[in-house]
Amino acid sequence: MSLIKLIDFPSLGDQRGSLVALESDSSIPFDIKRVYYIFGTQQGVARGFHAHKQLKQVAVCIAGKCRITLDNGFKKEEIYLDSPFKGLLIGDMVWREMHDFSKDCVLLVLASEHYDESDYIRDYSTFINFAHITENKI
Ligand code: TYD
Repeated sequence: MSLIKLIDFPSLGDQRGSLVALESDSSIPFDIKRVYYIFGTQQGVARGFHAHKQLKQVAVCIAGKCRITLDNGFKKEEIYLDSPFKGLLIGDMVWREMHDFSKDCVLLVLASEHYDESDYIRDYSTFINFAHITENKI
C-alpha cells in the first residue's frame, strides 16, 4: 500500500476566482485542533525530520511547491505538492522530510492535536526501532 495518500479538495471557485474550504471530519479525516503554515523558507533548507507517535496531519501547498518524503520505517516514497486542491494525509508513525521549497511556497498544515513536543520522535534511529517494534507486535 502506498504511503502517499492524497485527498482531493473540491473547487468552490467561480468566475471571480478560486476558493477551497476544508472541514473537520469531512474533507479532513479528523478533528482539526491546530493549523500552522510554513513560508519564506530559505533556499536549500529542508524541514521536518521527525515522526509523530499519535498526531495525524494534512499538508497542503497553497502556493508554490515543495517535495515531501514519507518513510514508515520499511519503505520511503516522495511526492511534489504543488496544488491547493490536493492534501497529503500524513499518518502517525511516519517520518517526514520537506525539501526543495520554492521561494513562493506556503505550506499549510492541519493537525489532529495541539502542539506537544512529547509526541515527536526526532531521532531517525529511534524512529526505526520504534516502527519495527510496533510492526512486530501486530
Ligand atoms: P519544527 O518542529 O522545527 O518545524 P519543522 O518540523 O516544520 O521543521 O518547529 C520549529 C519551532 O516551532 C519549534 O521550536 C517548535 C515550534 N512549534 C510550535 O510551537 N508549535 C507548532 O505547532 C509547531 C509546528 C512548531
